[in-house]
Amino acid sequence: MSYQLPALDYDLKALEPHLSSEILELHHGKHHAAYVAGANTTLEKLADARQGKDFGKINQLSKDLAFHLSGHVLHALFWKNLGPNGGGDPGGALAEQINRDFGSIDGFREQFTAAAMGIQGSGWAALSWEPVAGQLLVHQVYDHQTNFGQGTTPILVLDMWEHAFYLQYRNVKADWVKGYWNIVNWQDVADRLARVSKGPAAV
Ligand SMILES: [Fe+2]
Repeated sequence: MSYQLPALDYDLKALEPHLSSEILELHHGKHHAAYVAGANTTLEKLADARQGKDFGKINQLSKDLAFHLSGHVLHALFWKNLGPNGGGDPGGALAEQINRDFGSIDGFREQFTAAAMGIQGSGWAALSWEPVAGQLLVHQVYDHQTNFGQGTTPILVLDMWEHAFYLQYRNVKADWVKGYWNIVNWQDVADRLARVSKGPAAV
């Protein structure tokens, strides 16, 4: 089983002016591609380790797998969450769920923005479905693989690694987050909620 870099659903200029084509090309074609390659390389090394009965590097390989695979998954989700006709507010069942779990759309947006802005180092903000209580939660994900609830499924993510914004926004993270809200494809998020909320609880 190997992982592949998914094609974007839109062209490189489609998210401008909020996300420049220069960033999108590098972010998708280089950074995301590196996580795909890293996940595949790690799986090959694990296969070699099993073959050779040499698990001396199992700790590092296990960390590498979590890092690269999570990097691939979050980026693939991120591209689907964005779109050229995005922005505005969510509607329908997604809006109802957000209102139920966060009090209001604005309350959710403020918490998600604060989580994104507060990340120390590299990470993501994520809106995730938590199937045990059947609710949406906002997580602050460190790197790609740390600090989220086990069993949750992210349905909306925001990349706050410097590679996601620095070429365009320099150190002004707040403007990147403002730009992001203008390119969120709420229909994609709503479709994801409809799918994952029908799934079984993890425990
Ligand atoms: Fe990224």
